[in-house]
Amino acid sequence: MQQISDITPLRELRREWQISGKTIAFVPTMGNLHQGHLHLVEQAKQHAEIVVVSIFVNPLQFGPDEDLAAYPRTLEQDKASLQALGVDVLFTPHADDIYSRGLEKQTYVEVPGLSYMICGASRPGHFRGVATIVCKLFNMVQPNMAFFGEKDFQQLQVIKAMVTDLSMNLQIFGVPTVRETDGLAMSSRNHYLTAEERLKAPAMYQVLQGLRESIQLGRRDFSVLVEQAKQVLKEADMKVDYIEIRSIETLLSPGHEETELVVLAAAFLGRTRLIDNIQISLNV
Ligand code: PAF
Repeated sequence: MQQISDITPLRELRREWQISGKTIAFVPTMGNLHQGHLHLVEQAKQHAEIVVVSIFVNPLQFGPDEDLAAYPRTLEQDKASLQALGVDVLFTPHADDIYSRGLEKQTYVEVPGLSYMICGASRPGHFRGVATIVCKLFNMVQPNMAFFGEKDFQQLQVIKAMVTDLSMNLQIFGVPTVRETDGLAMSSRNHYLTAEERLKAPAMYQVLQGLRESIQLGRRDFSVLVEQAKQVLKEADMKVDYIEIRSIETLLSPGHEETELVVLAAAFLGRTRLIDNIQISLNV
């Protein structure tokens, strides 16, 4: 595995791969890799001849009161995991190169609508930061395909919309969430949980499973279901940001005939913001 931090050698390598007709899969990350990320890499390997992984903690997607400085950085450990999986290139760009004209002057990409709702309402500017860095990384790596976890479901929809709207020439794959044995969705932010909080954290997925069961059994009083679910999370000491039942395609409130739904949830457990989601198909 080669580690590259500069854009010029990455582009040279990209040209060589193109000449030899190799397909390129890309997995963008912010590092502190867990099984969820490694599963994305495994999927990427199954689909393409070359796999590029990036590690870049993107300042543009953190709000002023968020955890940019504290975000876990574990480069040596991450490198060993990626090497073991047979990744071809680890791209670790420097923030000064990525945002060479400064964050304030940076041209940005914004997917309207999708970026402002749900998580976007709680984290203004977050999806603009995500879309901008992902667009820039796509321009640098020029992959044929890219892989993202479904745990960040809204992020995945924002990226798919960006790719469609800007006619980008690559395929986006969403990969199912990898969970701990007690159901907690894997996330780099789980490291922030104290031992006591860690025991309470699986309540979020349990609540989502309960909502799916109720909806599949025919309940349509969504607002009552959501209020009950919020109460359960409060009892597990979570400060609920949102629980939303939405159409899977548009992330808007579902119409009566809608059969493909997603329930999205975010809550603070102590200082840790947990997010998760569950998909519901009423056709099965
Ligand atoms: O999901 C993440 O880790 C980040 O949002 C991403 C897609 C790497 C962009 O910084």
